[in-house]
Amino acid sequence: MSRTLVDNIGLLVTNDSSHDGTPLGIAKNAAFLIENGTIAWVGQASAAPRSEVAKVVDAQGRCLIPGFVDSHSHLIFAGDRSEEFRARMAGESYSAGGINYTVELTRQASNAALLKNARALMAEANASGTTTMECKSGYGLTVDDEARSLVVAQQVTDETTFLGAHVVPKEYKNSVEDYVDLVCGPMLDAAVPYSKWIDVFCDKGAFTTEQARRILKAGIARGLLPRLHANQLESGDGILLGVELGVSSVDHVSHFDDEDILALASSNAIATFLPSAEFSTRGEYPDSRRMNEAGVNVALASDCNPGSSYTTNIPFVIALAVTEMHFSPEQALWSATKGGALALQRTDVGHLGVGAHADFSILSTPSYIHLAYRPGVPLIDEVWRNGTRIK
Ligand code: NIG
Ligand code: FE
Repeated sequence: MSRTLVDNIGLLVTNDSSHDGTPLGIAKNAAFLIENGTIAWVGQASAAPRSEVAKVVDAQGRCLIPGFVDSHSHLIFAGDRSEEFRARMAGESYSAGGINYTVELTRQASNAALLKNARALMAEANASGTTTMECKSGYGLTVDDEARSLVVAQQVTDETTFLGAHVVPKEYKNSVEDYVDLVCGPMLDAAVPYSKWIDVFCDKGAFTTEQARRILKAGIARGLLPRLHANQLESGDGILLGVELGVSSVDHVSHFDDEDILALASSNAIATFLPSAEFSTRGEYPDSRRMNEAGVNVALASDCNPGSSYTTNIPFVIALAVTEMHFSPEQALWSATKGGALALQRTDVGHLGVGAHADFSILSTPSYIHLAYRPGVPLIDEVWRNGTRIK
């Protein structure tokens, strides 16, 4: 058995409230033991079990946090949309229409090219402290291109999501219901073996609530777990639909009203905010405080994609949540770790309690507050996944 002691941690964030009675579960002058990739003991450094430890990692008094759990990303695509970004910064507004440009390029790309791009983005995410990342299809939009997108996704993560209902592809512009039939039938058949989740972009320019209901129900009937892009571009029934169908998470939620909040508060669904999408589309940041006050569990994720949010950097997302959305530094860190894990129905990541994967980052700073306080500065010194250092 391999035993590693991580010692001399100035400030340890565990997300296990038994340490200090707060959600972040902070322990000072702490240590923990890793056995075969999982956490076997956590406590005061002075009480650490030191016998038969093969290796000691000295955190040198720095702050150590759980690995980020990024519960929303679109990494399987080819090309980029920098020209669209330039036009947007010059005053164009963001619409779902740009997705079809990436679809064209993705269909032309080989599996090897798609994998190379996804791996590069995953490596980028890992280097900024992400240790679990969900990844969607949705730029193939044919039976074969969706299936191969998911095959590629499975090579970079276990958290794969079938998003055949991202937008209606050009060739179905005049026969939208036929496309919905395709998604619910042959495309779903091809996607099921490679997917854990099913998602729909339910919004202006994408799919209606009725279509989204049909598609998600078809996926659920085939054993996929539902999640939903809801109310990014305009208010609508997306959040209510998500609650009705028992989704794990409603994502974006840039527009919502009291009824939406009430529905979420009485469900187990997580509200996942993606502030880097607001940043990159110059959208208005939603008032997430209303969700927090109503007791809705909230996650933060990157939404990494070539159109609306081309970043893998969760510290940047945390900085935006704190400065633009009034998250406290504690809420933001919890939402990007434990919140993301809840959104993916994972109890083995997003915290550093006994039995969890030893997925963590050591910061160059004495506190996690610096993640928002020192935006844009690479503060992630070391990243570990399953007890192995990956940065
Ligand atoms: O989550 N909203 C839908 N899908 C992506 C955008 C995809 C794109 O613009 O390429 C999102 O923001
Ligand atoms: Fe998205």
